[in-house]
Amino acid sequence: MAIKKPKTTSKKATPVKRAANKPKKLSGEVFYPSKQVIAEARLKDWDKLNRSAKKDFRAFWEAEAKELEWYGKWKKVLDDSKKPFFKWFTGAKVNIVHNCIDRHLKTYRKNKLALIWESEDGKEHRTYSYYAMNREVTRMANIIKAMGVKRGDLVTIYMGRVPEIVFAMLACAKIGAIHSVVFGGFSVDSLAGRIEDSQSKLVITCDGSFQNGKIVQLKQIVDDSLKRCPSVENVIVIKRVGNEINIETGRDHWYHELLEQPIAEGKCETEVMDAEDTLYILYTSGSTGKPKAIVHTHGGYMVGTYSTLKYVFDVRDDDRWWCTADPGWVTGHSYLVYGPMLNGATSFLFEGGPAYPEPNRWWQCIERYGITLFYTAPTAIRGLMRFGESWPDKHDLSSLRLLGTVGEPINPEAWKWYYRVIGKSKLPIIDTWWQTETGAFMITPTPVVPLKPGSGTRPFFGQEAEIVDEQGKPVADDTEGYLVLKNPWPAMLRTIYKDDERYVKQYWSKYPGKYTTGDSAKRDKDGYYWIIGRVDDVLKVSGHRLGTAEVESALVSHPAVAEAAAIGLPHDIKGQGIHTFVMLRAGKVASPEVAEELRQHVATHMGPIARPEEVKFVDKLPKTRSGKIMRRVLKARAQGLPEGDISTLEE
Ligand code: WT7
Repeated sequence: MAIKKPKTTSKKATPVKRAANKPKKLSGEVFYPSKQVIAEARLKDWDKLNRSAKKDFRAFWEAEAKELEWYGKWKKVLDDSKKPFFKWFTGAKVNIVHNCIDRHLKTYRKNKLALIWESEDGKEHRTYSYYAMNREVTRMANIIKAMGVKRGDLVTIYMGRVPEIVFAMLACAKIGAIHSVVFGGFSVDSLAGRIEDSQSKLVITCDGSFQNGKIVQLKQIVDDSLKRCPSVENVIVIKRVGNEINIETGRDHWYHELLEQPIAEGKCETEVMDAEDTLYILYTSGSTGKPKAIVHTHGGYMVGTYSTLKYVFDVRDDDRWWCTADPGWVTGHSYLVYGPMLNGATSFLFEGGPAYPEPNRWWQCIERYGITLFYTAPTAIRGLMRFGESWPDKHDLSSLRLLGTVGEPINPEAWKWYYRVIGKSKLPIIDTWWQTETGAFMITPTPVVPLKPGSGTRPFFGQEAEIVDEQGKPVADDTEGYLVLKNPWPAMLRTIYKDDERYVKQYWSKYPGKYTTGDSAKRDKDGYYWIIGRVDDVLKVSGHRLGTAEVESALVSHPAVAEAAAIGLPHDIKGQGIHTFVMLRAGKVASPEVAEELRQHVATHMGPIARPEEVKFVDKLPKTRSGKIMRRVLKARAQGLPEGDISTLEE
């Protein structure tokens, strides 16, 4: 093993004490942690901490908060006087960047690696210590300030997976600006919609990005989007691929040229923020209409991401952490950028995907950098499984000590492959259930918790979950129902940006006092939770969250389309694939060519991840008498299942 045992533990000195609170025998297929995993775990007694956090979740979170540095202490841990507008660590002064960077500069971590980066083609490598990170973030912060961005202003970040995206996020946070990262795989409609809604003054982008050897024209997409977005005064362009791009004088600025100017030089004080000040907004798809911007804060979000990563992945100083998510999704925000740096960890950022140029790309990186903690999505595992074991078997994966998964339910087959082939039947698989809205892990094991393939086990410390029926009454064990959360938590969303009403309606109205997740789930008699899927019109395509409404509006923007409906159907690799039903305008004729054109139209407007599997032409869509498309009925029909209650269906 590459891992040195912490000095405080030895095999003999830490017998596994299960006797006192030994759980009753668990039902079903259970994978218990090995003696070695327990011996190495920082937290050995899950039950004990769970019991005390359950008794007083405020005290649990306060103790966690005290492990970080604050400029000024809180008056109250939790202010719930205006719920559901909860406030955490009220009155406290802080900046998340102080804890991600500044704090470490006073210790030996100053010279520790914060970030390791490798290019898609594997020919370029860069590393940054915490000291170097501070230098780069400071330079970017100075430049952003010089562009006229002030505390509280919005900055949109639209980039590929390069170190500068991390600098950009942290630079915004450092000066108190609010970042809004848009996934670099989205296209014009998605980007323009998000810039328009947020009224950003500045966009930070790249000339392009690499995807499987091809160039994605990021700057071109920004140019097209900005035709609709007059709020944007400046665009900073990082040179990454060297393609021909348009530079609009006065508006667009090459980053490498800005770095040469005096404005980039000098110190930049980390802005003193209130704990409740907004750190970022992140757009995510909801049940209806346009994506909504979820609001996260400097104080609570910091405590939540720090603490969850510490306990759940047991991050230690000698670890090398790799979260394969894109920084454009919440997983990238919480566990690629903020969580690891709050823990002073070394993170790996990879520009490419798992299978380019060959399906061993990820396994090669694990070996090359000695990755110890690896966190990815079921869709990636299923995709890599398809290529067979010979690819991972070519590589020495013995540095790994914990594996993780997130984004959608993991099917037991993929779980077992991951466990056996990657984890050599020794490493726990940490299945973390959470959401853009929750900011941090909510239902998850820690390394010492016995696992059942496909279950995220039990709620994180201080949280209580419940499965309820339509009326909000808890259902019996092993019965499907709506998953709700009972306690507030520091990393929770504070609201939907500029839409408090929708925040209340969406998350807190169905079951007053409880947070509605939008997921259905079951709890078994051991208290283990099993997520089934979304109960709203949110799709999970390759773990990416998309709304049926967005796909439909992209389709309807095509001149041949009168009406459209989108649904998700099971897909072997992607989890869900997008299937669409289209009513053409009068005079338009259905054909395979038109279907193909429509699929391409959605990909061009929203991004390739939204390309439908199928476009089916129909004469009519099932609707309620009030005119709402009944996607549930379309879904049942497509799968040959009973249509359920169709009493509201129009004639
Ligand atoms: C939805 C949230 C925050 C992580 C990335 C996704 C589904 C997420 C799991 C899991 C089963 C999961 C849920 C949830 N989901 N993790 N471990 N097991 N389902 O964040 O894009 O906001 O999506 O992803 O349906 O509601 P997101």
